[in-house]
Amino acid sequence: MKALITGGSGFIGSNVTKKVLSEGCEARILDNLSSGYRSNLDGLDIEFIEGDVTDSETVEKACRGVDAVFHLAASVGRQRSIDFPQVDSMTNLIGTINVLEGMRKNGVSKIVYSSSAAIFGELETYFIDETHPQNADSPYGVSKLAAEKMILAFSGIYKEITGVCLRYFNIYGVNQCFDLYGNVIPIFAKRLYSGEPLTIYGDGEQTRDFVNVHDVAMANFLGMQSSKTDVYNIGSGTSVTINSLAKLMQKISGIQTEIKYAPERPADVRHCRANAQKALDGLGFKASVDLETGLDEYLKWFKDSCKIWGH
Ligand SMILES: NC(=O)c1ccc[n+]([C@@H]2O[C@H](COP(=O)([O-])OP(=O)(O)OC[C@H]3O[C@@H](n4cnc5c(N)ncnc54)[C@H](O)[C@@H]3O)[C@@H](O)[C@H]2O)c1
Repeated sequence: MKALITGGSGFIGSNVTKKVLSEGCEARILDNLSSGYRSNLDGLDIEFIEGDVTDSETVEKACRGVDAVFHLAASVGRQRSIDFPQVDSMTNLIGTINVLEGMRKNGVSKIVYSSSAAIFGELETYFIDETHPQNADSPYGVSKLAAEKMILAFSGIYKEITGVCLRYFNIYGVNQCFDLYGNVIPIFAKRLYSGEPLTIYGDGEQTRDFVNVHDVAMANFLGMQSSKTDVYNIGSGTSVTINSLAKLMQKISGIQTEIKYAPERPADVRHCRANAQKALDGLGFKASVDLETGLDEYLKWFKDSCKIWGH
């Protein structure tokens, strides 16, 4: 089995690549290195194409001779999409259409798409299943939702295409660098190792569902084995308060920086947890890495290798 992994140099894509290789598959990466790092793939036996998913010819060539596509290349994040809405839609929506067309022209029948809980917009319930209203409220949420719908439409029109869309909640783990648009775990990690205070917005009793990237890589692999087009929420199914997260990261790192409280941010939801029952029933997916074990691995990696130190 040979897989094309778009965005394979990125945080999640590099972990998906490792998983795919460990299962005995061949891997071809298509990545423009805009937010990924070639070094994330060091030592791996892969074929690397430096190219852009917005370039249909490049994508079509990249789809030649593969059996499945893991499509992760994207302009990622709410704030980035507000700052650069055209880049967001070109990459996330047009890029996905290019992948689907590349697949169709080359007879590739399987796509596993990295979608996002951002498609839901403002959350109306705490425990979120796939039927939660989809009121995406950022260019990013809209482009990820439109890409999902495009995959479902293509698999309806071209019966040979199976599309599995995985809606990730908060993902963390090895190869996740700090960036200005980043998630709370890399931000806390950077602050811990720089001796800066951890800033918590609001009272810190808001909860989030954090799922480890090894579990997400497994969900991708299971998605590739599925013969049914569908959408799935991918989370740990558990949640933790931001206060507990900060204390746990202090304990694991052995660094007790100050915790500071700042006013609550208006767009922040109070509680958020994925209902991952459908992924269990449909894909056999169940998150297995507990937060403490996953954070321990992540903080060791962050301290030793995160690219932030080179910036
Ligand atoms: N990290 C999360 O918590 C999270 C949550 C929900 C969904 N996702 C989705 O997971 C996927 C991977 O995200 P990530 O967190 O690994 O981000 P990332 O930025 O580390 O990875 C994205 C990769 O895509 C590449 N890329 C970007 N634009 C490209 C283009 N035009 N052509 C080719 N390659 C391009 C980047 O260089 C990078 O390697 C994305 O589709 C994202 O929307 C991530």
